[in-house]
Amino acid sequence: MREIIPVKEFSEEWNISEFAEKSIAKYREKIGDKKALCALSGGVDSAVCAALISKAIGKNLTCILVDHGLMRKNEVDDVVKVFRENFDVEIKFVDREAHFLSKLAGVTDPEQKRKIIGEEFIRVFEEEAKKLGKIDYLVQGTIYPDIVESGGDGHKTVKSHHNVGGLPEDIGFEGLIEPIRDLYKDEVRAVGLDLGLPERLVKRQPFPGPGLAVRVLGELTKEKLDLLREADFIFRDEIAKAGLSYDISQYFAVLTNLKSVGVSSDERTYEKVIALRAVNTENFMVAEVAKVPFEVLTKASKRITDEIKEVNRVVFDITNKPPSTVEWE
Ligand code: XMP
Repeated sequence: MREIIPVKEFSEEWNISEFAEKSIAKYREKIGDKKALCALSGGVDSAVCAALISKAIGKNLTCILVDHGLMRKNEVDDVVKVFRENFDVEIKFVDREAHFLSKLAGVTDPEQKRKIIGEEFIRVFEEEAKKLGKIDYLVQGTIYPDIVESGGDGHKTVKSHHNVGGLPEDIGFEGLIEPIRDLYKDEVRAVGLDLGLPERLVKRQPFPGPGLAVRVLGELTKEKLDLLREADFIFRDEIAKAGLSYDISQYFAVLTNLKSVGVSSDERTYEKVIALRAVNTENFMVAEVAKVPFEVLTKASKRITDEIKEVNRVVFDITNKPPSTVEWE
């Protein structure tokens, strides 16, 4: 039987500035001497959860970072570094790239991709938890928009977020802890700063649990993922050089499953199309296209096509949410 520990029961008019303090006290009492395992994804949500629970139970929290092969360029190293520098917790790094890619081979349906990744995540944690001895609780960084968009709280399903829709029933832990399940993104950031997390981590743009799997459209391969990692890195690099890293809510590259005709040194090419996406939003429930300066876009486009020979066209996504979602899948 799975037990979900709610947080919002503190008060009807709870205040975000009291959230960290009250949550820490609550979880300290609820978890007591038991052990918890936290899934670190590299994103703000799981980082805030890890900080919160580590303050509540200290060394009884172990964080696991699974490299599913779907992270951005340099991301795994970055995350481990930030945590080693800022937390007094055990971090276990698990390389499962080959495993995830084999499970995802041939899968093209976005919902199926999400479900597979979500399920495999939980299995990996179960396996790792077993190796660590008795672990009682699993900590997850589900936030309120994840629940709404996954059809919870009386809403229609938009897409299954891996930490909601893909969760198997036989989870194998005594309880599931979702400390920020009532919060919007901006509130999660406020709590992160209250907890003393570095601004660079708290202000980091969000990254979805299924990672680049929902940004490589259609079937996944390591080659496509590597190509996307390069394109995404170039776009982020150009945004950073323009001093815009923290001024745009979320920005990334997508590898479309289109091919288009181009020309290179008088030769016809027939190559891949990269899409760039940049949005501004308060809470990710609605979002509008970020007005990225044209020079930044064209610089990124030129670098992507110069540095990645398999790409001959770059487009910029100019759709708001709704009708689109932020991610393409
Ligand atoms: P969408 O695409 O639903 O994205 O408009 C809204 C925000 O949520 C992120 N996102 C996810 N985060 N698991 C996550 O943890 C997921 O399955 C997932 N899908 C989307 C997305 O990057 C954006 O910030």
